[in-house]
Amino acid sequence: MAELMDWSNLGFGYHKTDYNVRCYYRDGKWGEIEVCSEETIPLHMAATCLHYGQEAFEGLKAYRCPDGKVRVFRPDENAARLQSTCRGILMPEVPTELFIEMVKKVVRLNERFIPPYESGATLYVRPLMIGTSAQVGVHPSQEYLFLILVTPVGPYFKGGFASNPYVIIREHDRSAPLGTGIYKVGGNYAASLLANKKAHDKGYACEFYLDAKEKKYIDECGAANFFGIKDNTYVTPKSTSILPSITNKSLMQLAEDFGLKVERRQIPEEELSTFEEAGACGTAAVISPISYIDDLETGKRYDFGEEPGPVSRKLFEHLRGIQYGIEEDKHGWTMVVID
Ligand code: PLP
Ligand code: COI
Repeated sequence: MAELMDWSNLGFGYHKTDYNVRCYYRDGKWGEIEVCSEETIPLHMAATCLHYGQEAFEGLKAYRCPDGKVRVFRPDENAARLQSTCRGILMPEVPTELFIEMVKKVVRLNERFIPPYESGATLYVRPLMIGTSAQVGVHPSQEYLFLILVTPVGPYFKGGFASNPYVIIREHDRSAPLGTGIYKVGGNYAASLLANKKAHDKGYACEFYLDAKEKKYIDECGAANFFGIKDNTYVTPKSTSILPSITNKSLMQLAEDFGLKVERRQIPEEELSTFEEAGACGTAAVISPISYIDDLETGKRYDFGEEPGPVSRKLFEHLRGIQYGIEEDKHGWTMVVID
């Protein structure tokens, strides 16, 4: 396996693997799981996913653990979030059992692409659901394809658990549909591409959003939630326009387990100056500490230091410990996929 890839130097991107798994929804029901080695999908040019964004994706990871097992983290939560999205854009829900069966299958089939524990890399699992029927009027599709692809990945942000700068560019908004129970649809991410490019062009790791309505409160980063630490308290935004992150939900629980207070509430931008530590969190981001956040319009800089803080480090190590089967999984978050 060691020869397959340079695991330790992997970035976050797509690499071809051996198989993906697919399931079609036709005549009002889900079919059998199909194993596929083809990377492309035949698609009608008038498919609803292309024209009206009737599509959604998810993201989770499989971890090769030091005890030799392979685990995935909270796949039931991804299934539930996808179901919420499906309800919001009139797609049939993927049952949790089907979702988890397909996750297990695609991870097992691509076992040789699961990076070794020591490399720090993981196998990213990307479920995708698309409306495939032709429509020209704005109507839901009759038929759907649910597929899961996998790709080995390294850190999403430079350096992994290392501090990076972020930037607020006020003319860009976190995309609106997130507030309506519709999560992780491609249009939201396409809408963030320009802000993300501007942030990168100026040397920042990522763009950072304020609430779209008042530009007063903290929302989230481009592909991750936000948390701040102060006075032994874990503070994270309550907002209708951010993704309900499974990582953030888990960190709130761990913070509570560590005896921290947890507050999920509106965070005015100025409050950033009071945090001792700040971080971005998500499946891809894990915990990515934030060194500073610049507000380009006001010229303000909110500084959290060049080095990750002790609470962020403790949360990071514990979360990783659970994901890799090292720490006790007392909340039952991990699922062994390969024993
Ligand atoms: N926010 C956005 C916009 C994201 O794309 C992601 C990544 O999935 C997250 C937050 C983190 O969510 P999760 O922890 O469920 O991966
Ligand atoms: C994730 O963390 O799973 C994401 O979806 C982030 C990004 C790659 C879209």
